[in-house]
Amino acid sequence: MATSWGEPTNLQEAINWVDKATRASDRFRAVWEASHRHREQHGGDCTVYPSSDGPLMGTLAAAAGAKRILEVGCGLGYSALWLAYGAGQEARVETIEGDPSHAAIAEGNFAGEGLAGRITIHVGRAAAVLAKLSGPYDLIYFDGDPAEAINDLDQFERLVRPGGLLISANLFLGVYMPDMPGLEKTAEYRRRITDVNRWMTAWLNSGSKALSVRR
Ligand SMILES: C[S@@+](CC[C@H](N)C(=O)[O-])C[C@H]1O[C@@H](n2cnc3c(N)ncnc32)[C@H](O)[C@@H]1O
Ligand SMILES: [Zn+2]
Repeated sequence: MATSWGEPTNLQEAINWVDKATRASDRFRAVWEASHRHREQHGGDCTVYPSSDGPLMGTLAAAAGAKRILEVGCGLGYSALWLAYGAGQEARVETIEGDPSHAAIAEGNFAGEGLAGRITIHVGRAAAVLAKLSGPYDLIYFDGDPAEAINDLDQFERLVRPGGLLISANLFLGVYMPDMPGLEKTAEYRRRITDVNRWMTAWLNSGSKALSVRR
């Protein structure tokens, strides 16, 4: 039970405190909520699961001093907004989205938040778009299709600068969907980012994200 001044005294209370603080500091909370509503209404194979912690994305972009940022998996733009906001006025974000209807909604969200001038959407499958891009990028966020993870990682190793940061989500989807196709790709991705000759990697929250610095 919390103390009289509300200090958490067990793990669940501490988790609740952190969740509340995270939500309270989430300036793009409306886009996060709209992303969940969209997915429920869009149905089918829609995978617009917004990142669980936008303030973390913004803080990482700021701490990395990232000026050139690339994202795979724009969704409705929640994480791209946080990356652009966190990295600051001089930073530019490019984000890849395969579903044109998601990209159109994201464009509207960027304009609504006054950040359209700093975020560019590349509409198309990541494999095709990534092959045409030129580095170096300071920060790359992978939030795309696990089945394409290895192809994307090959491109990230070409595109991110030495010392640059790769943030990777979706690396343990077998926890939620054990029969999901492509899990062998994320297993190989995990192996590769834990190769100390290629990356220095730390893991967040039971694997919800990996943070990897390029050697
Ligand atoms: C998990 S959501 C992205 C959520 C977003 N990063 C956020 O935090 O709000 C994944 C998105 O990636 C798109 N996507 C999945 N695989 C893709 C691929 N291979 N190429 C391009 N877009 C892809 C989906 O259409 C979906 O909008
Ligand atoms: Zn959708």
